[in-house]
Formats: sequence, structure tokens, C-alpha cells
Amino acid sequence: MKNIVVLVSGSGTNLQRIIDTIESGEIRNAKVALVVADRECYGLERAKNHTIETILIPRGKNFSSELGKVIPENTDLIVLAGFLSILKPEFCENWSGKIINIHPALLPKFGGKGMWGMNVHHAVIDAKEKESGATVHFVTPGIDEGEIILQKSFELNEDETPETLAQRIHGVEYEIFPQAIDQVLNTWEIRKTK
Ligand code: GAR
Repeated sequence: MKNIVVLVSGSGTNLQRIIDTIESGEIRNAKVALVVADRECYGLERAKNHTIETILIPRGKNFSSELGKVIPENTDLIVLAGFLSILKPEFCENWSGKIINIHPALLPKFGGKGMWGMNVHHAVIDAKEKESGATVHFVTPGIDEGEIILQKSFELNEDETPETLAQRIHGVEYEIFPQAIDQVLNTWEIRKTK
């Protein structure tokens, strides 16, 4: 059984999807061992509803070092699911190859500092992009720069708004996030030899 730690900052619908797809078997051989939040948020409630252990570490300059102290050593994967703090380079390097993030755009476009949540969707609409989507990628010290695991795109509608875009992207995220997590956890050997 592989142990996952999920980091959240918001409503946690992606966390819910992870919990549900572990239960349905879409993510194989895994368990959410711990949910860590950097602020009070509904994601914590979702975890508690499933009797998953939760820890709140207030965001700020000590977040990464405090996080380092509470992550169990036997953790196989740290999953950032709508997590909004930037992790320190040292933390990313300690857990290299074992941290993944979901980003609500087609990286390498619309990533980096300040590119989170609705900001991303506003930027995509303002830039008159023809398509958007979601990306699951490894976390490295460079913000949103790690290797891409899975990405899925769709065409924007004529009357697309940041709100409709956010909703469509969530739909794509619910599809590719469980797939990516299962792939990283259960086909890692295959990935490495490719
Ligand atoms: C998701 O769309 C995720 O891609 C985004 O926040 C949302 C969280 O939704 N993450 C980022 O912007 C990180 N840079 P959720 O709390 O309902 O899962």
C-alpha cells in the first residue's frame, strides 16, 4: 500500500476526487495518510469527513521546514491539490521525484509566481488564447517548471469567461489527476526505463 500526503489550501474538490478514486480503484494500491493545509479551508473538513489525519501549518516563511517535520518518512507521494504556498527549494530537493502538482493551465504557458486559481483564467482570457486545460507535473524548485506527467487541453468557446473556464478546467483536472497519481505510484519503474 502506497502512502500519499495531500496538501490543500482551498475547497479541496481535487482532494475529494483523489479520495473517491482511491475508493473506486482508479488509483490503485494507495491511501491518503495525511492532509496538510496552510490555512483554514474546506479541504480540511473533507479529510476529517473521511477520518483522514489532518494538520494545519499556518502559511509563512517557516511553512516548508515545519512541513518537513510532519511528513511521515514512509510517504511515497506528496500531492499538491490546490495548494497555494510556494515550497522552499530544499524541501523540493529532499522529496525530489515524489512531489506532484496540478496546475489549471497548459504549462509552460501561464505558470510561475502569481499564476494560481482565477488569476490564471483571467490571464488566459485576456491573452485571447484559443485553448486551455490542466497540467500535472513534478514539483522542482522552479515554480511550475518540473517535468510534465499529464496534460489535457480543450478549445475555448467564443463566450468563455474566467468562471466558465474554471469550471471546465476542474472537469479536466478530475480526469487527469487520478490517472497521473496512479501512473506515478504504480508504473514508476516503467517510466524510469523509458
Ligand atoms: C484547481 O483548479 C487547481 O488547479 C488550482 O486551484 C484549484 C483548486 O481547486 N491550483 C493552482 O492554481 C495552483 N497553482 P480545489 O481546491 O477545488 O481542488
